[in-house]
Amino acid sequence: MSQFIARQVHGIPRSGIRDFFDIVQGMKDVISLGVGEPDFVTPWHIREAAIYALEKGRTSYTSNLGLLKLREAIAESVHKNFHVQYEPKNEILIAVGVSEAMDLAFRALIDPGDEVIYHEPCYVSYAPGISMAHGKPVAVACRAEDAFSVTAAAIERAITPRSKVLVLNFPTNPTGGTMERAELEKIADLVRRRNLIVITDEIYSELTFEGGHTSIASLPGMKERTVFLHGFSKAYAMTGFRIGYACGPAELIEAMMKIHQYSMLCASIISQEAALEAIQHGQADTVEMREQYRLRRNFIVNSFNQIGLPCHLPRGSFYAFPCIRSTGLSSKQFAVKLLETEKVACVPGGAFGPSGEGYLRCCFATAFHQIEEAAIRMERFVKSI
Ligand SMILES: Cc1ncc(COP(=O)(O)O)c(C=O)c1O
Repeated sequence: MSQFIARQVHGIPRSGIRDFFDIVQGMKDVISLGVGEPDFVTPWHIREAAIYALEKGRTSYTSNLGLLKLREAIAESVHKNFHVQYEPKNEILIAVGVSEAMDLAFRALIDPGDEVIYHEPCYVSYAPGISMAHGKPVAVACRAEDAFSVTAAAIERAITPRSKVLVLNFPTNPTGGTMERAELEKIADLVRRRNLIVITDEIYSELTFEGGHTSIASLPGMKERTVFLHGFSKAYAMTGFRIGYACGPAELIEAMMKIHQYSMLCASIISQEAALEAIQHGQADTVEMREQYRLRRNFIVNSFNQIGLPCHLPRGSFYAFPCIRSTGLSSKQFAVKLLETEKVACVPGGAFGPSGEGYLRCCFATAFHQIEEAAIRMERFVKSI
């Protein structure tokens, strides 16, 4: 069969996270700090909006771009929170999660051989998504010493005549890295000078614990060359609704819409109704969840540093990224042994690209008492090595 499978798909490995969690699925009493998913159930009023949509018989297709009332609410929210003004009629597209929006952006922008620069360690979908769109992924490694932010100088070193797109994701999965506005301004300047276009994945922006969050799209001259991606999965605990959106220049949104129209048609109307409720009335829920994550973050980071696994303080997202090099184990060896002996599941840092090797991703969107127990087990494990 392999002779029939397209080359660029055949060459792509399965997600390291999935493989690892297939093992976890078959085990009992595991504490999972693995999958990047809120442990909170979607707030009731948002679930109720989905139920009410069903009760009213709202079960049809929507416009390819998504419900206009949702696009209008998104325009208002993005203006208020990110200080960028988008036109709901032609600059916003509702997609099936940031996942689909990212894929649409890659496919709408990349010609075969175009280079796409992204900072690494990074979300597992970026490099495969770029390859499947026939582009060339170009990683820029980030370091714990810089709190996993990226510099304009490092990006500039990666630029070649084939460079076209720069992908940014702050706060970052898996490191929790964020950006200072001053450095983001240097990156914006570089992007304009070298004629690049930016895809910014803002999915964790509401989960910024300190320092505030600036979107590159809001910087002078950047709205015109940025695709702004955001969604509902993390901020509103709505992963299963599969709903996100893209904002950008009308011509590019139109190009993305064509791909969406012929592949997905539209996002589920029920999820769109729920998303409308979330964006209009869910701010307090997000703040409450963020404050819970903050407590858990402070505890887990402290625990890692005490155990002897140096861990920087993630300023956003719900991931801690401790360094496990002192144990002499690879990140996969560490994660597998920890799972086997102490039944704690974390993701090996190597799953997020070569520069993630030597680290472990631990998601703290897990109940506090479970994090406490995980810390006890991990301390026992580290002492036993
Ligand atoms: C950085 C990043 N982008 C996108 C996604 C996918 O989001 P969605 O559920 O909206 O497809 C994730 C999920 O973990 C993520 O971490």
